[in-house]
Amino acid sequence: MPQEALKNLFVAGLSNAHAMESQAEQLLKRQIERLDEFPDLKARLQTHLDETYRQQQRIDAILESLGESASTLKDTAMSLFGNLAAAAHIPADDEVLKNSFASFAFENYETAAYKSLIAIAESAGVPSAIGPLRQSCEEEEAMASWLSSQLDSVTRRFIQKAA
Ligand SMILES: [Fe+2]
Repeated sequence: MPQEALKNLFVAGLSNAHAMESQAEQLLKRQIERLDEFPDLKARLQTHLDETYRQQQRIDAILESLGESASTLKDTAMSLFGNLAAAAHIPADDEVLKNSFASFAFENYETAAYKSLIAIAESAGVPSAIGPLRQSCEEEEAMASWLSSQLDSVTRRFIQKAA
């Protein structure tokens, strides 16, 4: 692929990641509002919300280094996750479970997106982007792994509370 096309692919990928992180922000905020009964989950999501803001800033900085303005990007809702984000709005008895599944799926999606972006950055010859993208990728992986480790105990606590 010619260098110009690689750069375009990278910018398109960064724009998608920008939209993805906007969705992440919404998904996290909606859950944090409603997680008073699961304070440890709430605290970890709050920490990840702070990480998400920094991830957004990293994407903006890379876009700006490429001469693209992040502020003009339209964050079109990703259809894959539109329903998940909407579901986080609906009060349901088992919302903590559904949201845990959705968050786990979302964090894995984000990890995949960053892994791909790192490969594109290498191919497109933008080495300065690799460190920040790797940092975000590691944060997503850590979040996915933590959520996975909590599914058992969150489910058991949900059962106890429902009893
Ligand atoms: Fe994330």
